[in-house]
Amino acid sequence: MMLKGKRILLVIGGGIAAYKVLDLIRRLKERGADVRAIMTAGGQHFVTPLSVGALTGNKVHTDLFDLADEQDIGHIALSRDCDLIVVAPATANLIARMAHGQADELATASLLAAAAPIIVCPAMNPRMWSHPATQRNVAQIKADGATIIGPAAGKMAERGEEGVGRLPEPLEIVGKIEDFLRLRSGTGPLAGRHVLVTSGPTLEPIDPVRYIANRSSGKQGHAIAAAAARAGARVTLVSGPVRLADPEGVTTVHVETALEMLAAVEAALPADIAIMAAAVADWRVRSAAAAKIKKDGSGAVPPLALTENPDILSTVGHGSQRPKILVGFAAETNDVIDNGSVKLKAKAADFIVANDVSPEHGVMGGERNMVHVISRDGVDHWPQMDKTEVAERLIALFASRLNA
Ligand code: C5P
Repeated sequence: MMLKGKRILLVIGGGIAAYKVLDLIRRLKERGADVRAIMTAGGQHFVTPLSVGALTGNKVHTDLFDLADEQDIGHIALSRDCDLIVVAPATANLIARMAHGQADELATASLLAAAAPIIVCPAMNPRMWSHPATQRNVAQIKADGATIIGPAAGKMAERGEEGVGRLPEPLEIVGKIEDFLRLRSGTGPLAGRHVLVTSGPTLEPIDPVRYIANRSSGKQGHAIAAAAARAGARVTLVSGPVRLADPEGVTTVHVETALEMLAAVEAALPADIAIMAAAVADWRVRSAAAAKIKKDGSGAVPPLALTENPDILSTVGHGSQRPKILVGFAAETNDVIDNGSVKLKAKAADFIVANDVSPEHGVMGGERNMVHVISRDGVDHWPQMDKTEVAERLIALFASRLNA
């Protein structure tokens, strides 16, 4: 739906992954997009303008100083007369030239003159991708407004090489393009709504170098924030320290301790939906030492007096700015449903998403989750699925409840 009638300018760079672009064109056209293509000289070594033209049904542009083109549409008009520009495969060289604003041939000149948003799909050898120069250039084009899709991990065309650098599969690129367009269109079941999500662990300092933490990876919470953004919501994600990138299209606030998380949550209210997926530490050290605690040689251990952290979910649930839909998580190792039901009441939540985090299930830090959705209406047992799918389904459920 999102691609119907959209005018897409595809810039095809010179990488072996250019062969996948033929399929990408087909998939975009199937969904109703009008595709025009520019090919770099390198790109034409890997696929021919003839195949690209046959699939797009439009003339393929290759030359900055093509007289016929200049009279017809002109190289500036090419990147002006479109809704979206997709660069695929974006080689290290093409990204470097974009980062420096070069305009010495048709592809770079069009990108520099572009008015439409630009999506860049890098594909290159993993060493080239991880090189600081490439990473600098990618950061630069991002800062200039480009959106990056990929690269994916896997086997490379070069024999025996493996790593991050592959062009994502065409259908995955199409999905990401649709998400991008949906985010910008202000449509979706949560358009105009504010969704607040907490994610990750909290760290509670013992002294300046030591802390108490837990094994939460933040994967489920971050996936929920991303799904809410894809559903059209304005999303605030309050995240403890995690090894995950900030989700696309989401305002992420980084915190460390439970007290900081509570302050950030209260500052982000009001919200239509709040989903507290963070694993907040129940206790903090009563008075963290100002200097590193030392062994004194006597064998005596320092007393670690703890005090209870505020319960963020419960504070919001009983507060004056309670969102219309309030959701808690319950990470349990036993009596999952019973404990979840008790929390639903105690914390004044509308839903508790309960999961069994016993180590044998590999939920904490893993890619998959098996949840039980507890509400006043009863318990729904969902099958095991990827955390991204759990996130999609939860957001669909909360959106339909909100819009009911
Ligand atoms: O009581 P328990 O920690 O199992 O409850 C889990 C739910 O409560 C989660 O949604 C978690 O984010 C929230 N919580 C909180 N503040 C705390 C402890 C838990 O918001 N101090």
